[in-house]
Amino acid sequence: MPRLKLGVLISGRGSNLQALLDAAADPAYPAEIVTVISNRADAPGLARAAARDTQTNVIADPDRVAFAAEAERVLRGAGVEFIALAGFMRILDTSFVAAWADRMINIHPSLLPAFPGLHPQRQALAAGVRFSGCTVHFVRDAVDTGPIIAQAVVPVLDGDDEDALAARILTAEHRLYPLAVRLFAERRLTIAGNRVAIAGGTVPDIVALNPSDCT
Ligand code: GRF
Repeated sequence: MPRLKLGVLISGRGSNLQALLDAAADPAYPAEIVTVISNRADAPGLARAAARDTQTNVIADPDRVAFAAEAERVLRGAGVEFIALAGFMRILDTSFVAAWADRMINIHPSLLPAFPGLHPQRQALAAGVRFSGCTVHFVRDAVDTGPIIAQAVVPVLDGDDEDALAARILTAEHRLYPLAVRLFAERRLTIAGNRVAIAGGTVPDIVALNPSDCT
């Protein structure tokens, strides 16, 4: 079966892009990254793509409609079938979101619907939750909403600051995003309303406790 052609949109560091590039380096992985678009010319993630001979594009137009039109041209040109937002920090035009509905996903460093928007790790610490994590979801118009595909949970430790929690979540992101893309590429996801059904696979039978048994 031909590999699914993936386009990745970034704005910065690109560590999730790297995780996807690493996954796709295995020819058995069912998706390949055919183009990367950044809205910032100085995004370090661009070099990660270039290092893997992956096409890169900078579209810096601040106008949402103009950005969408240019992105559409690039994506079409590269034959993109599926988009992964990976630290992409701009709001996308409504018509672009509609055009890619059910073919565009995002990763967010919280257990959505908790803590959408900016500084989710700071929000988690302020709320005093004992678990946080990350979520991969289909993209809908409102920021950080849309049917949830997969989540990873990490504990919040007593001494955590924002950076420590973010680092723990990021490690989980790098496992979760390639998994979610693979599930899509294997055509195992079915969206019904706000829920996503996943064909096959296993569900962990763990119930995580934090603190775990205190003796
Ligand atoms: C990640 O935490 C991602 O969940 C969020 O932005 C951050 C991007 O990091 N949307 P990177 O650019 O992938 O390293």
